[in-house]
Amino acid sequence: MSPKLSIESALETVIKSYEDQGGPQLLAQAIRHAVIPGGARIRPQLCLAVASACGNDDPRLAMGAGVALEILHCGSLVHDDLPCFDNAQLRRGIPSVHAAYGERLAVLAGDALIVMAFEALVHAAEQSLNRLAPVMKLVMQGVGTPHGIIAGQAWECEPKVSLRTYQKAKTGALFSAATMAGAAAAGGNPEVWQTLGDSLGEAYQVADDIRDVIGDMQSLGKPVGKDIELDRPSATRQFGLDGAVGYFDELVAKAIRSIPPCQGEEFLKKLVLHESERLVPNALYDRHLHAPVEDLKKRPVV
Ligand code: IPE
Ligand code: IPE
Ligand code: MG
Ligand code: MG
Repeated sequence: MSPKLSIESALETVIKSYEDQGGPQLLAQAIRHAVIPGGARIRPQLCLAVASACGNDDPRLAMGAGVALEILHCGSLVHDDLPCFDNAQLRRGIPSVHAAYGERLAVLAGDALIVMAFEALVHAAEQSLNRLAPVMKLVMQGVGTPHGIIAGQAWECEPKVSLRTYQKAKTGALFSAATMAGAAAAGGNPEVWQTLGDSLGEAYQVADDIRDVIGDMQSLGKPVGKDIELDRPSATRQFGLDGAVGYFDELVAKAIRSIPPCQGEEFLKKLVLHESERLVPNALYDRHLHAPVEDLKKRPVV
């Protein structure tokens, strides 16, 4: 089975195990809606690829870490789409969770996913209990405060933030959690893998900013134009479209350079390159090269 299919199957198993235990039906439906069908599943893929590069001697723990990261990511999207954050009605081509189930269930589904992620990780660590604490700590740092997703979203409430600090917390932190937890789950050294996660995560958010300007709702499956509408700091607003694409290329190159010599080196490099072309396809950029991108800088970003 391909890594992506194994991830889908592991996610389905976790969601189903909760459904089988009963509880409020609508909440269970909202939780399923948030996780399945999914998006790119890039965070667990990255976690598993790094675990493989480190020998992957406990595949169950590596998958548990990947599943936990993806469930946390899905929960963060449910909260991010809420009216009090980005007020987005569409996610992954279907109504966002609050659009389908209402705000109250969306808040609760996001909360439930956070707890579910850690429970899934704990279950997966039965054979390597000594690795559970370090893996869990890395995952927590990716989502919590002061530098994880929660902090990233909270920076939007501050009057001033640097683009880098905002994007590192909002998106980069979960990517570095993915690479580092993948290493720790396989008994490897997490530090060696931090730059790959940091750079790819930042590149990922820069790409999202670019697509927010030149992408379209139908192919992205989510609204575009939100960064200007909501006055959010974004790479396109700070550097312009060309500057943002140049910055994206630099970050991808940095991510590739950071991959240490290891058994899965070529696979990892291919994964990063494949992602970079998926995120900002040359064809999409070329089409917009000469199109004017107006009013990108409504708010000065520091
Ligand atoms: C969306 O993440 C939010 C960002 C950090 C840009 P993804 O682009 O990974 O979303 P899915 O999981 O594929 O839908
Ligand atoms: C990333 O930010 C989302 C989270 C960290 C939860 P965005 O708000 O830019 O992501 P999209 O565009 O809604 O996917
Ligand atoms: Mg947002
Ligand atoms: Mg959003």
